[in-house]
Amino acid sequence: MDFRHFKYFVAVAEERSFTRAAERLHISQPPLSRQIQQLEDEIGMKLLERDARPLRLTEAGRFFYARAVRLLEQVNETVTMTRRIAQVERRLVIGFVPSTMYGALPRIARLFRAVKPQTELVLVEKLSVEQNEALNAGRIDVGFGRLRLDDPRVKREVLREEPLVLAIPAEHPLAGATTPLSLLAAVPYTLLIYPRSPRPSYADQVLSLFRDKGVEPMTVHEVQEMQTALGLVASGMGLCVVPASAQRLRRDEVVYRPLLEPSAVSPIIMCTRLNDQSEDIVLLRSLIDEVYRAQAAEKLLADSPPPPAGAEA
Ligand code: BEZ
Repeated sequence: MDFRHFKYFVAVAEERSFTRAAERLHISQPPLSRQIQQLEDEIGMKLLERDARPLRLTEAGRFFYARAVRLLEQVNETVTMTRRIAQVERRLVIGFVPSTMYGALPRIARLFRAVKPQTELVLVEKLSVEQNEALNAGRIDVGFGRLRLDDPRVKREVLREEPLVLAIPAEHPLAGATTPLSLLAAVPYTLLIYPRSPRPSYADQVLSLFRDKGVEPMTVHEVQEMQTALGLVASGMGLCVVPASAQRLRRDEVVYRPLLEPSAVSPIIMCTRLNDQSEDIVLLRSLIDEVYRAQAAEKLLADSPPPPAGAEA
């Protein structure tokens, strides 16, 4: 049995006709029929009901078809990934959820490009669910997302838990709060959530924070992007729970207040293919630590009291 048998059988099963399958495979019909006959002889079972028009699969044929499709997908995936691995010295493709652009990602990307200019760094916007598919298909090499998706083919590492804050229209009664606000304070108002699709998404993370407290926001309005949600907050249309790093957006129209609940955090998760330990991925991971260390040192410096007046410079 060889690889062609699988390809040919899948074509016949999908086209339900030897003529159309032969056209699709760019071969003539007699060798196609011979190959399928050979396959059935090797298995020792009929896979097709040849008398039916259009052709029908036997029970064994349906089972074999499902397995053959999976096998062909795996073969294609293996070829794409192998090509990608051979290219790692030249190209590293990162998928990121938009909110990570307001965190450490730009700094990490700059540092990577400075340290490894010979690798072309490509950044593509992708939601967490899309990143998972793109990683497995070899279209990206790294994903920075916010969802804990379980996939045995993917290595997942939580880099940090980012605090969430409540974005409030500047004129809103909650805007003047001087202490952290509970999520309960947001319940009577319209809550803007994003992204609308694909689900699950960060939107579900936010909703489940409310559900953990046994409440539902009075009204929920779904939008596709954080920028749109914050634009609607600025327009006075509702409130939104966003990662703390988004606080630099729309500062003159939107007020950000910390949340009281310790559970009001969202992870920043790095995903890679399970056994992909390429040099560029190892380097990227070490640069993330370097950026985190630099940020911690800068924060310490910014928080430390100024030297007493008259102290020597
Ligand atoms: C961060 O903000 O911590 C971060 C964002 C993207 C990639 C890695 C880290």
